[in-house]
Amino acid sequence: MKKRFLVASILASVMFGLAACGSSEEETSGNGDGGGSEKTYRVVTDANYSPFEYQDGGEIVGFDVDVVKAVAKEAGFKVKIENVGWDPLFVEIKNKTADMGMSAISINDERKATYDFSVPYFLSTNKILVPEGSDIKSAEDLKGKKVAVQTGTTGHLAVEKIVGDKNEDIRKFETTVLAIMEMKQNGAKAVVADNGVVEEYAKNNPDDKFVVVADEDAFENEYYGLMFPKDSELKSKVDEALKTIMDDGTYTEIYKKWFGIEPDIETLKE
Ligand code: ARG
Repeated sequence: MKKRFLVASILASVMFGLAACGSSEEETSGNGDGGGSEKTYRVVTDANYSPFEYQDGGEIVGFDVDVVKAVAKEAGFKVKIENVGWDPLFVEIKNKTADMGMSAISINDERKATYDFSVPYFLSTNKILVPEGSDIKSAEDLKGKKVAVQTGTTGHLAVEKIVGDKNEDIRKFETTVLAIMEMKQNGAKAVVADNGVVEEYAKNNPDDKFVVVADEDAFENEYYGLMFPKDSELKSKVDEALKTIMDDGTYTEIYKKWFGIEPDIETLKE
C-alpha cells in the first residue's frame, strides 16, 4: 500500500511538477528597450494547477504564465515568478511581500474585501471529477460521499455549501494534485475543482478512467483575475496591458495554444 502510494506520488510529480520541492524562479524581461531600467515585480503562484500553472523540468509554465509574460512585455516590466503555494500566496499579497498573485484565482466578493484584482482574463466553473461508472451525476449526489478538494479554493467552498461546512466527508488537501491522488487511491469518490484542470486531467490520464460531471445549477461561472495588494500601482498597468493583448490577438494565440479553441473575449469584457 505504502509502495503504491509512493509510485503514485512520483507519477503525480512527473505529470504535474511537485510544489513541495521548493520554489522555482524565473525572470522574464519585457520588450527590452528599457535597457535594464525596467522594474521587476515578484509574482507568486501555486504551480500545481495544470494547465494554468505547473512545473515542467524546474520551469513554471502554463496558460497563466504566458498571459503574465505577455502582460509584462506589453506594459514594459519584468516578472520574477515564484512557486510559494496556495495559502502562502494570499498571505504574501496581503502583507505586500509580493506584488502579484497568479494562480487561476477566481474573483469573488470575499477576496475583493482584502485584495485588488485585474480585469477578468478567464471564464471558469467548478466541475466534479469521478471514476468512470460512478453514481455521482450531480452536485447533490456528493452528499454522503468522501469528496477531495484543495483547501481554500472556490471548489472547497462550493462543496461545503452542498454537504455542510462541518462535514467530515470533505477531504482537504494543500494542492489539487494531492486531492486527485486521494481519489486515485480510493480515499475519495470525487474531486471538485476548476473545469480546465479536471478536464485536462481526465484527458491526459486515460488509464485512470476518470470522467467529468458538470452541474450548472450548483456551480457558478467564475472569472480569474490577477491579484494585487490593495491600492497597488500595478493594477492599472496590468489592466491596460490585458486589454491590449485581448485586442491585438496575443491573448487569442495563448488561449489557442493551451486550449485548442478560440476564446470568448466578449464575455470576458462584459
Ligand atoms: N479558481 C479556484 C479558486 O480561485 C481554484 C484556483 C486554484 N489555483 C491553484 N493554482 N491551485 O479558488
